[in-house]
Amino acid sequence: MSVFSESSPIEVLRQALIDCRQATLKQVQPLGDRLYYRQPPGHPEFSPIGWHFGHIGFTEELWLLRHCAGQPPQQPQTHRLYAADGLPKQQREQLPSLANTCQALQQVRQRVLEYLPRAPLSQQARLWWFILQHESQHSETMAIVEALHGRKPLYVAHPAASNAPEFKSIKIPAGTFLQGNSDGNAIDNEQPAFLQHLDRYHIDRYPVTCGQYRRFIEAGGYDNRDYWSAAGWQFIRQQNIQEPLYWPQQLPQTEASHFDHYPVCGVSWYEANAYANFVGKRLPSEAEWEKAASWNPQQHRPQPYPWGTEPPQSHHCNHHRRLGGITPVHAYADHCSPWGVADMLGNVWEWTSTPFAGYSGFQSFPYQGYSQTYFDGQHYVLRGGSWTTRPWTLRNSFRNWYFPQVRELFAGFRVCERE
Ligand code: AVJ
Ligand code: FE
Repeated sequence: MSVFSESSPIEVLRQALIDCRQATLKQVQPLGDRLYYRQPPGHPEFSPIGWHFGHIGFTEELWLLRHCAGQPPQQPQTHRLYAADGLPKQQREQLPSLANTCQALQQVRQRVLEYLPRAPLSQQARLWWFILQHESQHSETMAIVEALHGRKPLYVAHPAASNAPEFKSIKIPAGTFLQGNSDGNAIDNEQPAFLQHLDRYHIDRYPVTCGQYRRFIEAGGYDNRDYWSAAGWQFIRQQNIQEPLYWPQQLPQTEASHFDHYPVCGVSWYEANAYANFVGKRLPSEAEWEKAASWNPQQHRPQPYPWGTEPPQSHHCNHHRRLGGITPVHAYADHCSPWGVADMLGNVWEWTSTPFAGYSGFQSFPYQGYSQTYFDGQHYVLRGGSWTTRPWTLRNSFRNWYFPQVRELFAGFRVCERE
């Protein structure tokens, strides 16, 4: 974020909007027609990248220009296309061109930045920060669609990870911590913060690595019903799933070990649980994950990031597409949580055992369909963000959620002892 710490709230917001958009444009501009217009092959549940791009501008216009500034709609003919509840995903391939959409987004943005200095931010700041985080989240979905079009995430080398990781299970003592985030710019589902008591538990220092997971594959884990829930077994049999979606390409044994220290990426919640069963462990609850990331036992308060209060920069963790892919689990061990738990933000999302639900006192913002619609007992919470997550949605309290069969995310997991 801005290096000028004395900047006004308006300046901080303006700069964040500009930085976020610059990253979005850099992401979509090099795309050819196939990647821009087409749904990824075999994935009818994902919209084309061009749809996400247009929807970013549509949503910004809807909330900041129409709702806040009271301006009339700009291009009403595109509303049915870009509204989340408008067209079915299979009808989202008839899109305005990249050039036209860039222009439309630019027109909205120009009006937004003209309005910003006179906007009553004391009442609207939350919505402005929501819009920034909305664009950030769609950029991640666009990165997933890119991967499904064949541009799989790379496994990139990192100078700080030349030695081997020191695997460890870290003890978190019993006690109460403050879960959630009552900061006004937090997403509705993070609020309000509340006291949560947890018994003692042990959580792995690192996410599960490809080296660890390979033992599960080689032991026939995908063919052994014992490790799987009924729903999980049915799912992997029906889909004929044999390995994580972004599993490193087929390689000679000697080269395969090169990937041993990278986190597993591209697993469903079912696969995460099957692996945990295989090693006699379990997934953390989202509360356990958050306490291990955020609670500072010396200061008796939570930190927004594992390393403290400084907003994410490239040396803290692997995010914002800075490296173009996944890094070894111990590359950022210098910026672990107060407990010594490493690689919690960035790199890969982490599945938890917790179904997505509202915290006590939850209030929808800015609309019911953002979070509340998904409090259905069918979605599970993921924490931590990935190598492509933008800094504005990267924090200890941030909650993501998906159906348990989704493997397209840049998601892995870590495990806890069963005690
Ligand atoms: C929180 C990532 C699951 O992309 O479906 C974007 C975020 N909601 N626009 C999604 C979202 C509305 C949401 N996830
Ligand atoms: Fe959206």
